[in-house]
Amino acid sequence: MVIALSTAQGILVGVAAGAGVVILLWALASGVRRPGGVRGPDIPSAMRSAPSDEDLEVPVREKLYIWGLITVLIMAVWVPVLFLRENTTNKEDIQGLLATSVERGHLTTLPGNEENQIGFNCERCHGPGLHGGQNVYNGNVVVVPNLQTVCGGADFGHPLITDLQDVINTIAQGRTGTDMPSWSVRYSGAMDDQQIQDLVNYILSIQKVPELKNICLHAPSAPSSSPSPSSSP
Ligand code: HEC
Repeated sequence: MVIALSTAQGILVGVAAGAGVVILLWALASGVRRPGGVRGPDIPSAMRSAPSDEDLEVPVREKLYIWGLITVLIMAVWVPVLFLRENTTNKEDIQGLLATSVERGHLTTLPGNEENQIGFNCERCHGPGLHGGQNVYNGNVVVVPNLQTVCGGADFGHPLITDLQDVINTIAQGRTGTDMPSWSVRYSGAMDDQQIQDLVNYILSIQKVPELKNICLHAPSAPSSSPSPSSSP
């Protein structure tokens, strides 16, 4: 069996293995009996008498200073390095989360089976890759929309889609009077908000409409004639 490890998991396993080796060596070393006789009885260090006052005055104190200096220097380098990399780390985390969400969304659109337990088979109606398909509904063959252009709105054959929220609502609530079922648990469906979000992220990732016509990314500005609460006296 091959276990796929991410970089972070790999580093963790490496650190854990390293720590294990260090602990093992330390245990072995401390178990080795020092040559006795010459240096007197083998007294554990915790039970030996403390250093004399003269020793404490200079050699012990200086040793502590040096170790203090070394640890402060390590921290003085370490903290700024982490701080300066923080933006990149956060960006990479977000990108990683989005990539796994898109992947889950993709699996959600495929048929569910033993290998793919999160599949809800949107493909059955919306076709492979959600590029549009057909379904039999009430004895008639109906054309099921191509979701690779759903963010194009009316210009691309999706008159009911005016922004991203319409896509989310359609998936969550379904469309009454058509065979598009509701999927959110809030509307008698079977998916939680994360599953809907994963689907939306996947659908956004497969859009074939030109970037500027993508109303999911660039919400069209509201018509100027529409009444707004603030304009009324
Ligand atoms: C039983 C068939 C069926 C299944 C399964 C299905 N859909 Fe649909 N879907 C439809 C139909 C039919 C429409 C068009 C409804 C209409 O005429 O307004 C539609 C419309 C949509 C729309 C709006 C498109 C537009 O042009 O307005 C989205 C988004 C959508 N479906 C997403 C999904 C997702 C995501 C899944 C899987 C979780 C899914 N659908 C599963 C039949 C289905």
